Amino acid sequence: MTKILVDCDPGHDDAIAILFAARRCELVGITTVHGNASLENTTRNALAICTLAGLDVPVARGCEAPLVGAATHAGDIHGRSGLDGAVLPEPDHAPIDAHAVDFIIEQAERHKGELVLAVVGPQTNVALALRREPRLASWLKAITIMGGSTTVGNITPAAEFNVYADPEAAAAVFACGAPTWMAGYNVTRQTGFTQPEIDRLRRGRGRTAAAIADLMQFYLDGQRRVFGLDIAPMHDVCAIFPFVRPDLLTHVEASVEVELSGRLTRGMTVCDLRNKRAGATGAIQEARRPNARVATSSDARALISEVIDAVLSYP
Ligand code: RIB
Ligand code: CA
Repeated sequence: MTKILVDCDPGHDDAIAILFAARRCELVGITTVHGNASLENTTRNALAICTLAGLDVPVARGCEAPLVGAATHAGDIHGRSGLDGAVLPEPDHAPIDAHAVDFIIEQAERHKGELVLAVVGPQTNVALALRREPRLASWLKAITIMGGSTTVGNITPAAEFNVYADPEAAAAVFACGAPTWMAGYNVTRQTGFTQPEIDRLRRGRGRTAAAIADLMQFYLDGQRRVFGLDIAPMHDVCAIFPFVRPDLLTHVEASVEVELSGRLTRGMTVCDLRNKRAGATGAIQEARRPNARVATSSDARALISEVIDAVLSYP
């Protein structure tokens, strides 16, 4: 089983990524970051999901703001708490003492060459870990990111939320040189729970499935209200699948760079999917060296079925 550490901002879809990773990988730890809600809320939410599912996994608090500027939250989708829609248990344990940045470095060194770092919120913790420990990129087996998009954004027409919430951090992580996978909004917006699939969760016998069904219903209602989508997109778990069922996502190798200064495009991931041949002359810009495997499609129904099975397996 793949050793994985999930850096996240729970968040409805983060919660699903945690539950899925805990069943289908060796989840060595969870680190929390600002994003869908404040760091205080995302940390409490991560602990509450672990308590609900009976997961004994260390949770380390991370950064409460991006490298530059103020934090951006997504309350209109995830609610004020960051995980509205269900009554969740009070956390039965506290975060560990270590800061997320130090915990990421420590775990990468302990599991040198084996650890996959799943980054499914703003990438602030990981960017600072790379800055603090320059060897980190070489210690990691891979970095798998939910973030960016090869097409439309969600928080702006051009930018996806995780990258927009800390573009400088995302730029540093995409440039770090570690083997990198990207699950962007272009794919994740089409990969989510339908209403019948949420209803299937609700028919589950465990307390976990019942609470997750309530959370997903809240999340689906928000997606319908804000984006006119008729699915609850499971953005974050798409970053886990390359290490569990790689056949359920298609990836292409491409360069991914983050726009930092565009008035309309700050936080956009510029992915070069031109499949351009080397050596063309004239004005056409040369392709940059690919730095990521970028998801371009998913087998959504099969992927969601694997996720539902994992959630139904909890008490
Ligand atoms: O744009 C989708 C991403 O933003 C997901 O990670 C979701 O949890 C939010 O953090
Ligand atoms: Ca997230």
